[in-house]
Amino acid sequence: MAHLFPADFLWGGAVAANQVEGAYLADGKGLSTSDLQQQGIFGPIVERTPGDREGIKDVAIDFYHRYPQDIALFAEMGFKCLRTSIAWTRIFPNGDEETPNEAGLAFYDRLFDEMKKYGIEPLITLSHYEMPYALVKNYGGWGNRKVIGFFERYARTVFTRYQHKVKHWLTFNEINMSLHAPFTGVGLAEGSSKQDIYQAIHHQLVASALAVKACHDINPEAKIGNMLLGAIAYPLTSRPEDVFAAHQENNHWLFFGDVQVRGYYPPYMHRYFRESGITLNITEEDRQALKSTVDFISFSYYMSCCATDDDSQKLKGNILDMVPNPHLQASEWGWQIDPLGMRYLLNFLSDRYQKPLFIVENGLGAKDRLEADGSINDDYRINYMNDHLVQIHEAMEDGVDVMGYTSWGPIDLVSASKAEMAKRYGFIYVDRDDSGQGSLERYRKKSFFWYQSVINSQGGTLK
Ligand code: BG6
Repeated sequence: MAHLFPADFLWGGAVAANQVEGAYLADGKGLSTSDLQQQGIFGPIVERTPGDREGIKDVAIDFYHRYPQDIALFAEMGFKCLRTSIAWTRIFPNGDEETPNEAGLAFYDRLFDEMKKYGIEPLITLSHYEMPYALVKNYGGWGNRKVIGFFERYARTVFTRYQHKVKHWLTFNEINMSLHAPFTGVGLAEGSSKQDIYQAIHHQLVASALAVKACHDINPEAKIGNMLLGAIAYPLTSRPEDVFAAHQENNHWLFFGDVQVRGYYPPYMHRYFRESGITLNITEEDRQALKSTVDFISFSYYMSCCATDDDSQKLKGNILDMVPNPHLQASEWGWQIDPLGMRYLLNFLSDRYQKPLFIVENGLGAKDRLEADGSINDDYRINYMNDHLVQIHEAMEDGVDVMGYTSWGPIDLVSASKAEMAKRYGFIYVDRDDSGQGSLERYRKKSFFWYQSVINSQGGTLK
């Protein structure tokens, strides 16, 4: 059976400002939390002074200067859509200024204009794993209610500025990650109490809802979604305890979606807070604000996981505690590969929310070899993506409304978890290594031509 996708399907790729742009102080940009995490989101947080030049992300892949060439390559593959983020610190360097930084705004004007030249729709994340570091230092990050107002000002500024250029927005990248990486997600120290983390998350959920309202006020034509790390958990066994453990594990991250899609806290969280001794300060104004709900749901999906109530089965993972699934193979980084999980997750989210879904991250992080003739034969990546796209198509046949697919890292970039260049996701190879050596030249991989044919044939070449 051919796997034909609809003509308006948004094919593309996804990157994030802090993983591609570099130019970390250019044109008045302030230091972001990401600038302090030069060994990745689980590495140490190192204080720094502007100009000390010590990290891999300071240059990243120099997208800030090379974007015209990169957008042309995306266009060559036939992209209909490119997901990237705005670095909040380019617009409000310290986060609390009254007026935005014009040079920062102008950069994204140039970037969006470049995309428009090729008919590539921007899908823009307001906050992808970073915030102005000054808001952490001077206000205590999202733990402070005032940050809601600073974020709303930033959101309103960019919605207004780009209202004729951007029609699709996302609020916070993988908003559920704050439970595991509080500095990255909400600007709180690692080891912060659950009470503090959930209060900060509450502020962020209110800010997300206020951004939804602002987006609709400013441009009623625009659509705005949330963004979840789609960490779908299966029961490790058919023991009822494991089935229920999976249900609870899923509720842990679906809670974010429940608030953002339904507009209120789900009852199971009231019980969780009560039994965990967590008391949130939720005002009547907050409750009203939360009623502005998202137009669509976006998510990342790399792997599924297993849940059990048996602690002896749990391994300490990179990001989450992992319970390996004995039926699946893993990538070189230990991420278990599960294409059918994509179909399951799409059906699961569709049943729960009855909203359009957008897959905004999926891909294989792997080591690539640049051959002497400049080729890169990444069949493993082609296989991974083929199998996931086939399952997306199956889900659409099941009746799931899928807006589009932006693969993660269509061009090699700095990885989030460990700030590695060696973990490559791209269709385009970038000559740079973990020590920052390399020409930054771009090379088309075998997967480049494969993705190009998939898009050109609307999925017809999928196997
Ligand atoms: C998601 C993030 O968690 O996964 C991206 O939104 C990240 O920023 C991606 O890069 C892949 O993770 P990693 O650690 O392999 O870069």
